[in-house]
Amino acid sequence: MTENQTLTVRDNRTGEEFEIPITDGTIRAGDLGKIGRTDDDPGLAVYDPGFTNTASTRSAVTYIDGDKGILEYRGYPIEQLAESSTFLEVAYLLIHGELPTREQHDQWVHEITFHTFVHENLKSQLQGFRYDAHPMGMLLSSVGALSTFYPEARAIRDPQVRHDQIVRLIAKMPTLGAWSFRHAQGKPYVYPDNDLSYTENFLSMLFKMSEQKYNPDPRLAKALEVLFILHADHEQNCSTNAVRSVGSSEVDPYSAVSAGIAALYGPLHGGANEAVLKMLKRIGTPDKIPAFIEGVKRGDEKLMGFGHRVYKNFDPRATIIKKAVDDVFEVTGVNPLLEIAQELERIALEDDYFISRKLYPNVDFYSGLIYEALQFPPEMFTVLFAIPRTAGWLAQWLELVDDKEQKIARPKQIYTGDRTLDFVPAAQRWA
Ligand code: CMC
Repeated sequence: MTENQTLTVRDNRTGEEFEIPITDGTIRAGDLGKIGRTDDDPGLAVYDPGFTNTASTRSAVTYIDGDKGILEYRGYPIEQLAESSTFLEVAYLLIHGELPTREQHDQWVHEITFHTFVHENLKSQLQGFRYDAHPMGMLLSSVGALSTFYPEARAIRDPQVRHDQIVRLIAKMPTLGAWSFRHAQGKPYVYPDNDLSYTENFLSMLFKMSEQKYNPDPRLAKALEVLFILHADHEQNCSTNAVRSVGSSEVDPYSAVSAGIAALYGPLHGGANEAVLKMLKRIGTPDKIPAFIEGVKRGDEKLMGFGHRVYKNFDPRATIIKKAVDDVFEVTGVNPLLEIAQELERIALEDDYFISRKLYPNVDFYSGLIYEALQFPPEMFTVLFAIPRTAGWLAQWLELVDDKEQKIARPKQIYTGDRTLDFVPAAQRWA
């Protein structure tokens, strides 16, 4: 078996044959570069827009089997983590690679809790935004600005410096996210309350008004905790790739993470749950569902919240979120859109169009309903994704920084433009 782990390639341009090793189901692009290489020709390369079939790294952070609907962080199934862990414990697991001892856990939680405040000048920066600024724009620029408050963060080879910035980033994201939310409402920013848990404190900074102490409903805090766990990492997606690509220049982690936030901001990445909500509102009542489904099958539109590039079976995160929906609605009252969502799901899962294309509900099908029940406007949905994903981005960034095989990201291109034109100065061209 092992001796057959090669690929024989015959270059029909020259008749030459090459034997290329196969490791872990991949060949090295550099080995292909030996094919056809001459003094004038750099050799064969791979053309793969969107990196749909190119492994950019080895990683031990997150495992996904899309056909079987499996998602694991550091080997632990997402179902078990969502059921029995906390977001901060999961963040520790992602960053450190193993579960914490009691002492490690307590110290980690203490460190994160006592770094939640941000410099007052950053508050002034946020206050300078227009009244209708999108909270994701505010978040990405304020995370980028953090690098100016901690210039030592540039020492990315120093483990202690790295640790300090990781703690700061995970700790300050809820503060910056909540303040971006309050800004749009013209409400005063609420300072962190270090007596509360990570998600309770976030809820307090979002919703506290004149009361001395904000006491979030534990069921809502728990539901948010589960959503944070589900969104903490998802291997080499667009934003993680952005963090790794920018991080490969050895810039500080604040700048790398702000690149990840920028990537997440895009509607193809972080915005589908908002689209689900709009779709459910447009359908309006269950009797309109059959006509809507027929429209989808005719190709008039998509059933948003269904289908996934990687999952060709149930998205395991969708199954968990469905359970959290019940807990949230117990507190907030049932959103009438839930009935439409459930009926849509029931019909779609019995319909050959969806079955044959392996289209199942994804993470976004139910999460928008929860966010709306928690009184978030749609613009905040992506912020709620960015806060927990920071743990995953940083785990992947740490892996990158320590990976001896990594180099500055610099893809090739196939040049399609003109060559060796003679430049005619403007005065002559315009004469
Ligand atoms: N509704 C109706 N038909 C669909 C849908 C859908 N939601 N998704 C895919 N199809 C059809 C598609 O038209 C194609 O049909 P045909 O073979 O007849 O041309 C077939 O299924 C295969 O689809 P595809 O576009 O080749 O699949 P993809 O892997 O390129 O796209 C996707 C994946 C997520 C972009 C797509 O399923 C989609 O647009 N879904 C709706 C948007 C959505 O819910 N996005 C959230 C993704 S989960 C968040 C995350 O993890 O980042």
